[in-house]
Amino acid sequence: MKSLSRIGYGTFKLGRNQEIKYPTPYDLPNQKEATRLIESLYLQGVTYFDTAPSYGDAETKLGIALQSIGIQPFERQISTKIGEYFNPKTKSYYHDFSSKKINESVERSLNELKTDSIDILFIHAFYPDVKIVQQTALLDALKLLKQKGIVHSIGLSGYTNEAFQLIFNDLDAAMVEYHPQKKELSPTIERMGEGQKLVILKKIFGAGVLNPETALRFALSNPNVSSVLMTSLNLKHIQQNLSFYHSINT
Ligand SMILES: NC(=O)c1ccc[n+]([C@@H]2O[C@H](COP(=O)([O-])OP(=O)(O)OC[C@H]3O[C@@H](n4cnc5c(N)ncnc54)[C@H](OP(=O)(O)O)[C@@H]3O)[C@@H](O)[C@H]2O)c1
Repeated sequence: MKSLSRIGYGTFKLGRNQEIKYPTPYDLPNQKEATRLIESLYLQGVTYFDTAPSYGDAETKLGIALQSIGIQPFERQISTKIGEYFNPKTKSYYHDFSSKKINESVERSLNELKTDSIDILFIHAFYPDVKIVQQTALLDALKLLKQKGIVHSIGLSGYTNEAFQLIFNDLDAAMVEYHPQKKELSPTIERMGEGQKLVILKKIFGAGVLNPETALRFALSNPNVSSVLMTSLNLKHIQQNLSFYHSINT
């Protein structure tokens, strides 16, 4: 697989503003604004985009944006997820890791993202995650999707070192929360890196409360990290983060 851009874009805020963990409420961008944002990121070298069915209509907006900008599949990487879903009417989550739901969910994601295959498909776990990864039907369904070429890499977006350890051999990628105040998953990051597997960091800004430069410097200083997700709807913040990134890298 082509390597991920060191800075990836997390699309949560493109599609959902209900039941959020951010300190400040926000309006969702319309399609035109979302497309402009994705284009600006792409032109600045951000070619990896993370999304999920539970991020409102983020998958739809991302798919339309990539198609209308004319970004080809070999020019970008997309990760999406299975298992967690959000009902905007009841403002509630539900989880379903059955193989039937996985196949339906992937088919829907392919359709929304306007693609034939998904670069990384993450198990969208919740805490406690050990019982989730122990469901053999879950991994069997994911492995079948990989065999068919519909999914290129299998990942776990998880919470405990134990869960990552349990399915380590079947994993190509890990998505973990990691910042100066949250380092519990350091052993997983190290083990994945040593195994030449992908490590993607989420929530590096502590949902927006950490100093962005310090947070980026901390995340990028870990040699086992493949990509760091940046989530923002604010073009000034995006520019600021990309400048921090370039200054760290020079
Ligand atoms: N798999 C999972 O279970 C899971 C869970 C959560 C998240 N994720 C993924 O990880 C991504 C990131 O997580 P996250 O959004 O929860 O947390 P985060 O990246 O820690 O925080 C994002 C927040 O930081 C703010 N921010 C970014 N740059 C800033 C800057 N320079 N100055 C001031 N504020 C700044 C943004 O606000 P502005 O818009 O105002 O810039 C945004 O509200 C998500 O989009 C998603 O793709 C995955």
